[in-house]
Amino acid sequence: MTIAIYPGSFDPITYGHIDVLSRASKLFDKIIIAILINPSKKPFLPIDDKIKLIEDSVQRFKNVEVDSFTGLTVEYAKLKNANALIRGLRAVSDFEYEMQMAQMNKSLYPELETIFLTPKPEFNFVSSTLVREIAKLGGDISQYVPETVNKYLSNIVR
Ligand code: PNS
Repeated sequence: MTIAIYPGSFDPITYGHIDVLSRASKLFDKIIIAILINPSKKPFLPIDDKIKLIEDSVQRFKNVEVDSFTGLTVEYAKLKNANALIRGLRAVSDFEYEMQMAQMNKSLYPELETIFLTPKPEFNFVSSTLVREIAKLGGDISQYVPETVNKYLSNIVR
């Protein structure tokens, strides 16, 4: 069985993430969306809400699970018997950080392959950071995030 983890902050999940996930779900038997809980960083969304929003947004993919983790991504991958780690690659600006992380993860755990997938061009400029900023300033984020996330963010920033 091929298992991939798709780690990230997902603060919040966007259509860009979902596009990457839809591609990955065709390549692997199981994908685990692994939300990082970073004790030294306060996320915009509480973890329980993030999990609910992501579960709601990805329910049409039958081979996708949602989970959270702390610590090293490679240790989480070992725990889950994952063969691959999925990352979305949007623009050249993502490249340096992603390359560094992929090589470091490979050095820490050589059995795990990082697979980069690119989202559709219309999602290339969508990021959780910009979505948060637009939502906080009262802008319309409905084209960038699932309806359930849009409603949730509209309520908390009101
Ligand atoms: O969505 P993000 O914030 O770009 O995801 C970054 C993430 C969670 C994949 C990365 O920060 C990570 O793997 N953190 C866990 C700690 C870890 O393994 N650090 C070493 C990475 S080489």
